[in-house]
Amino acid sequence: MGISCKGVSYSYPLPKGQTLTSLQNVSFTVETGQFVSLVGPSGCGKSTLLKLFAKLLRPTSGTVHFTDVEADSYRPEVGMVFQQHGVFPWLNVLDNVVFGLQRHPLSRAEKNELARAYIDRVHLTGFETAYPHQLSGGMQQRVNIARALVSQAPTLLMDEPFGSLDAQTRLVMQEELLTIWESERKTVVYVTHDIDESLLLADRVLVMSSRPGVIKADITVPIPRPRHLNDIENSTLRELRWHIWNLLELKNEPRLT
Ligand SMILES: Nc1ncnc2c1ncn2[C@@H]1O[C@H](COP(=O)(O)OP(=O)(O)OP(=O)(O)O)[C@@H](O)[C@H]1O
Ligand SMILES: [Mg+2]
Repeated sequence: MGISCKGVSYSYPLPKGQTLTSLQNVSFTVETGQFVSLVGPSGCGKSTLLKLFAKLLRPTSGTVHFTDVEADSYRPEVGMVFQQHGVFPWLNVLDNVVFGLQRHPLSRAEKNELARAYIDRVHLTGFETAYPHQLSGGMQQRVNIARALVSQAPTLLMDEPFGSLDAQTRLVMQEELLTIWESERKTVVYVTHDIDESLLLADRVLVMSSRPGVIKADITVPIPRPRHLNDIENSTLRELRWHIWNLLELKNEPRLT
């Protein structure tokens, strides 16, 4: 399943009838099995765009649709890793991950087994019965990732999934995600602030402008797979890193009024 958006704009309603235009006229297509990362300044509308893709929001104008899906299912299964508040505080680690299998007709024992395999992939074996408040922020984020991966959804929407991980764990998880993606080839839209991460993981990097977000550049990453962490030293990637850095024009978020 791929995703296509055409002329998408989104405005949030504000008090007193005002609106805040978060995205303006965004168009692009993610092909089935492609890994696309989205980078852009804070507040440019990246999370909003993922919520539109997940059909949690409806565009103010324009259209979002899935490609290569059977019939025209409005809500095919997508796995989502939210930037914040992704885990259920009242469920332990195992049950949080099993929740990702709610649409699967499996026995509880089979669900547990699959969930344990993904808990292991995110290096949380031993914490199955722990509750989120007993885990660090980075560990909670890994529970979140395991739940999205276990669902076997053909499409994953990931919003800064490694944002709260320490630098070393982040590298381990990047390597793990590369391995998982290279074996499963899901369609992934991946939001990150880390330019190196976007280049290491993705087939294409979309660079967004500050709010209202538009797509400023669509960059193909010409590095063969399988990739490894040290590919980041590749001279092509070094050039692309500066190119993206210059495109980002990081400055203050535009004021509300
Ligand atoms: N529920 C909301 N109501 C009103 N405005 C909102 C709401 N959610 C987000 N916004 C505004 O929409 C704009 C885009 O927000 P969004 O969360 O999509 O940005 P982002 O690119 O994900 O930023 P970050 O990199 O900091 O996560 C911001 O200016 C934000 O203030
Ligand atoms: Mg965000």
